[in-house]
Amino acid sequence: MEKKPLLDFVYHVEKEDPNGRQSSNEGGWQSWDFTESVCDTNPLKEVKNKILLFAYECADAYGFQDYSLKITNLWININRKGDSNVVHSHPGAILSGAYYLSLPSCCHGPLSLLKPFDMIHIKESWGNSLNFNRAHENDYNDDEYDYYPKEDSCVIFPASLLHRVHKNSSDEDRISLSFNITAYSEHYYEIYPSPKSTTKSTPLSII
Ligand SMILES: [Fe+2]
Repeated sequence: MEKKPLLDFVYHVEKEDPNGRQSSNEGGWQSWDFTESVCDTNPLKEVKNKILLFAYECADAYGFQDYSLKITNLWININRKGDSNVVHSHPGAILSGAYYLSLPSCCHGPLSLLKPFDMIHIKESWGNSLNFNRAHENDYNDDEYDYYPKEDSCVIFPASLLHRVHKNSSDEDRISLSFNITAYSEHYYEIYPSPKSTTKSTPLSII
């Protein structure tokens, strides 16, 4: 994907709204959500389509079937030197993620995905200094999984998963577009009474 038009757009939006919004960001700049019509116009349209394609791949791999996805909101993050994002999740969505538009060549800070509480509990309820070897932390018992993103790539995870972004230690900007996704089932009316079956029901009294 061509980086420059999107990068120009990002800095244009920041210039127009230098305060942005305060959310999970400790320092840094975060935009407000873009309206659907802006998301459907280039340069956002191209990245939105790329995100959706990847999201469908993820949901298919997970086992979803007969469904459609929708990006409900999408926003920009610029983390400059020393900026980070505190632990948070994305309520109201089923999937969340980030597209990495521009990353410093080093030290930009990984995305940390926190293990669900029941997994952390195994170690923390058992692990005092005598009965757990803290020097033996690995992917199985570590409380967090550090994901080191690559530029022009996308990561998607369950929206309920707690996560944080470590400090950017580089002088260059760490720029990502975050998003939330919801899913719609094509079997909604097989789960709940369909409008057809409820339009004229037989009164219980004559059964
Ligand atoms: Fe997030």
